This record gives sequence, C-alpha cells and structure tokens, in this order.
Amino acid sequence: MKKSITVSAPGKLMLLGEHAVVYGRPCIVTAVNQRMKATVELTDEPVFELNAPDVQVLDYKKPMSELGQGDIPKGAKFVEIAVKNFFSTPEVKKMRLHLGGVAVATASEFSSKFGFGSSSASTVCVVKALFELFKDDLAYKQGLRVDLKKSIFEIALKTVLDIQGKGSGFDVAVAVYGGTLYFVTGGKVIELLHIDSLPLIVGYSGIKADTVTLINQVLEKDQDVVGDIYTNIGKLVEQAKPALLSKDWSSLGKLMNEDQKLLENLGVSIKKLDDMILAAQNAGAYGAKLSGAGGGDCMIALAPDDKTQAVKDGITAAGGQVIEIETNAEGVKAE
Ligand code: MEV
Repeated sequence: MKKSITVSAPGKLMLLGEHAVVYGRPCIVTAVNQRMKATVELTDEPVFELNAPDVQVLDYKKPMSELGQGDIPKGAKFVEIAVKNFFSTPEVKKMRLHLGGVAVATASEFSSKFGFGSSSASTVCVVKALFELFKDDLAYKQGLRVDLKKSIFEIALKTVLDIQGKGSGFDVAVAVYGGTLYFVTGGKVIELLHIDSLPLIVGYSGIKADTVTLINQVLEKDQDVVGDIYTNIGKLVEQAKPALLSKDWSSLGKLMNEDQKLLENLGVSIKKLDDMILAAQNAGAYGAKLSGAGGGDCMIALAPDDKTQAVKDGITAAGGQVIEIETNAEGVKAE
C-alpha cells in the first residue's frame, strides 16, 4: 500500500447564480489555476496530525479516536472532519482499512482571503488523497462503486455542510470536476460546459467576507421578495449558459450586469465592490459583478481584449487589487 501522496485542487470563481443556488436554482462556476495542495501520509501511530501554515495551524495533533471532538481550531476543521467522514463512510468502514494515523500538510497558491474556496478545495484534496491511498482495497475498485469523483463530491459536501450548516456545494463540485460547470444545488445537476476561453478579469476588494454570515443576512429579509429575486437570478443563469457556450460575450456581460443589480437588491453588495464594478463597466467591460457571497472578496469583469488594460486600471483606481488567474482549470488530481 502506498504511504503518502500529494494532490491538488483548484480554487473557484462564481460566474453567475450565487445565493439563489443555495435554494434550488442553478449557477455557473469556473475553476481557477491557483491551486490548493495537500500531502497526506498514513502513519503507524493512531494520531491525526495537521500542518496548514496558510491558516496558522502548526503541529496540530489528536488521537484518531477523537476526530471531530473537542475544540477544533478554525483552520483545522475542514481537514479534520474530512478525515473523520472518509473513515465513517460505509464502504470504507466495511473494509477496516487502516488502524494507524493520518498526517496532512496543506499549502495554498492563493490567499484564503480571496474567497476562492480554500476550505472546500482542501476538503476535496484530503478525500481524494485518502481514496488514492486506499484505492486497491476499496469496494469501489471491485465494481461496487465506480464513480470515484461522485464519492469524493459526496464526502466533501457532507464535510462542508457538517461544518457550515449551509451551502450549495458548487465550490466542492468545481474543486472535484474542474472546468466550468452548470451546477444545481447539492449536485442535482453537475454539467461540464465545454469552453476554451473566458476573458475574465478579477479584482479583490481587500475585505474578507464570511459566506454563512451573508446567507444569514439575506434570511432576515422579506422572503417573498428574496424568493422572486432568486427566481430571476435562476432565469439569468439559464440565459447565460448558451451565451457562454457560444462565446456571446456581449450578451453574457449584460446578464452579469443584471445579476449584479439583483445581488444589490438582495443587499449583499458593498460600496467598495460597487465602485470596482462601476469602474470596470465604465472602462468598457461587457459586464461586471461581485463573485461569491458578497460583503467583500472579489468582483469579476468580462472584457474585450482591447479594453483589458483599461478595465484593470479602473479596478485598481477604485481601490481593488487585480488578481491574475486563468479559468477552466483542471479538477482535483494527484501531483
Ligand atoms: C458563496 O461563494 C456563494 C453562495 O451562493 C453560497 C453557496 O452557494 O454555497 C452564497
């Protein structure tokens, strides 16, 4: 049996459909080429160990029998619960695979502040690594469970929901499958959209946002109004899908602008994001909007080649930081 493996998973950017996707509507998300890496090692002592310097977790240790118990540092939660959930999965439990320990070290190519989904990417890495380490023993290898990606998605989604309580799972799906996805809540639909380019510019607001806080903030509003907004966001996503597939950037940009208006009506945009978005629109972008939960994190703009520099300059002048990324990156993989 292999003792150690390194895997990586991409970060993500929501293109359209945030918030509404938590409540049964579709969204479109793309994987970015900045990746989370995890090295997972099987050890003899039944101890869980984690080093995740990006989130200030150093030499964190506890007995495997206590996984998920007691006070868990914020930066350790996703990895620890992912390990626990992997070993509690019926097909894994049946095999009584490993009585020793697991040591994990994570390292990210992107800051956890950006809202690129570092928690879900590290969760996906750990589940993928454990499946790879045990793959010769597992029932799925013997034909009982053939869809490895689906198994990874399910365990990672359960992990994120165990910790956050809320979420659509779009970030988990794109970390697993990569590319650009049309996704419906909980993975009811996960459809790969075959595109080879997307002229996207990303601006970081400098403000860290918390997804669950933003979701709860929207829950305090009149739910009839919110429901109508979600329905309209869902309609925009349905129109955006063919626009994206046919590279009709002008139509896609208009849909992004409309989505931004709806997100403003939901109350999740903030002045800094509004300023950066307006600057991008004024500099000639096809469209611009916030990306993710709102309240901070990043905005995105879709721009013609000859306007790219002007849009970047506009975002910077509005106080944002342009982040160079490529979209449509590969899903989780062994390094
Ligand atoms: C956060 O990046 C996007 C939300 O739609 C939450 C989710 O889909 O899990 C607000």
